[in-house]
Amino acid sequence: MPEKSDRKSTASLTRAPAWRALAAHRKTWNERHLRDLFAADPRRFERFSLEACGLLLDYSKNLVVPETLDLLAALAHEREVPARIADLLAGKRVNATEKRAAWHTALRAGHAAPREVRNALAAMRTFTAALHAGEVRGVSGRAITDVVSLGIGGSALGPALATAACVPDAGTAQAPCVHFVAAPGEALSQLLARLEAETTLFIVQSKSFTTQETLRNAQDARAWLSAGFDASDYGPHFAAVTAHAEAAHAFGVPPARIFPLWDWVGGRYSLWSAVGLPAMIAMGCDRFDDMLAGAAAMDAHFAAAPPAQNMPVLLALIGLWHANFFGMATRAVIPYPPGLAQLPAWLQQLEMESLGKGVSRRGKALRWDTGTILWGSAGTEGQHAYFQLLHQGTRPVPVDFIACCATGDGNGDDGAHAMMLANCLAQSALLMRGLTAAEAEQGLLAAGMTAREAARLAPHQALPGSRPSNTLLLPSLAPKHLGALLALYEHRTFVQSVLWDINAFDQWGVEQGKRLAGSLLPAFAADAPAVAHDASTNGLVAFVKMQGNKS
Ligand code: F6P
Repeated sequence: MPEKSDRKSTASLTRAPAWRALAAHRKTWNERHLRDLFAADPRRFERFSLEACGLLLDYSKNLVVPETLDLLAALAHEREVPARIADLLAGKRVNATEKRAAWHTALRAGHAAPREVRNALAAMRTFTAALHAGEVRGVSGRAITDVVSLGIGGSALGPALATAACVPDAGTAQAPCVHFVAAPGEALSQLLARLEAETTLFIVQSKSFTTQETLRNAQDARAWLSAGFDASDYGPHFAAVTAHAEAAHAFGVPPARIFPLWDWVGGRYSLWSAVGLPAMIAMGCDRFDDMLAGAAAMDAHFAAAPPAQNMPVLLALIGLWHANFFGMATRAVIPYPPGLAQLPAWLQQLEMESLGKGVSRRGKALRWDTGTILWGSAGTEGQHAYFQLLHQGTRPVPVDFIACCATGDGNGDDGAHAMMLANCLAQSALLMRGLTAAEAEQGLLAAGMTAREAARLAPHQALPGSRPSNTLLLPSLAPKHLGALLALYEHRTFVQSVLWDINAFDQWGVEQGKRLAGSLLPAFAADAPAVAHDASTNGLVAFVKMQGNKS
């Protein structure tokens, strides 16, 4: 049993001296505009940017001045953030409600990792190498060419993101094609229509081995295999990643193909474990190791840097400042590299399943807001979808812009990449600077519009500005930089949970949803009696069944 992290919840957050000082400081803010702060301090970028693990964080376009950051750092100290970071990294029992550690950093600790972690990684590498060498064969003796990962949530989002972000290692022998399926039904059947049973292997990714969507997909995969060839033993076409090996074995996965998970690895923090196996297969062992090393470098920075120079801590504090003192209830993360298009989805689970809590670690109802609503998409497409609201809407939304200095793995450059960078930086600058009605009017007059027309149109073209954003620049999307980026956000999430005095590592709300869905499923059977739920649910089920009867 991991050692208890006996840090009691500190005094109520809103009674903390630093919180009160921040509240007073907030009152001085309204007349400030970011554009004026930049004009008054030519060194603002140097003052409010930080490099760590190869990443550059520009936090100068946030609603902060030196005093703000001093007060936020004081809050971090009052909330015992450094001590709580030490507990997390030491594998202490920081997940009090489930009495577990949250030791995802141990998964990337290399030689210092626990033996079971090193053994699991070795088994993953052996399996990956065999797949790449064409030595993993199906019941018909043909080499496996396609790997289908069946998992959902933390058992899918991380490996799918890493696979999309890290181009396959050109040096890798013919690596199998890796596919991800989460929702049951069409998603799987449409994929399988394109694959051959004899050359397909399924990895059932499920920490609990009870998630209904994943088990349904596994059963459908088994039926597809059995239909594809007459062998009764479909074991050679399965592997599993789970904390419940006995359930996987009972399903028919050969023991040698069952890769372990441990209860101290949270699903949304599990990419670095055997849950990452599909990504290792896609990118190759060495590049997966690079990704682990990048995350480990961020862990070292997180452990050693004082709050004011600690990238995850700074992001957490600035996020709290905008959320709790400016009422910014949502946050957008907008990556420009196409390979990071799935980053917002991964972050949604990481942040909203970790920080969507309403009671303190001691179970007391909170009197302050916690997790914000995270959304976003690839920036290039987002500019043509929702940036209008970001620039001229009535609700300011803090944005994390993410871009790479070089394309792909850092090889070469092209005009399209420069265009993407120009767009990313332009959006961030415009959110900060805005456009006054006078500037808009001048622009219209310069374009030849009449004074009357220009005066009429100018208010519609003005942008308020002073809308906060961070810009994170990665040297490239090489695996080590991806690892550092993802670990950065894991730690940002943990620090916010410390500041808000909530447990980042349980997810009781989702568990209830799973239970209710399970109890509702039988109601859809054709001859089932009317459901005994609320009138809305009963009416909706009845309508579905009525439609079914018509078709
Ligand atoms: O969404 C709830 C959840 O338990 C997540 O925390 C988890 O990542 C996902 O479902 C899948 O769970 P499992 O890996 O046990 O199938």
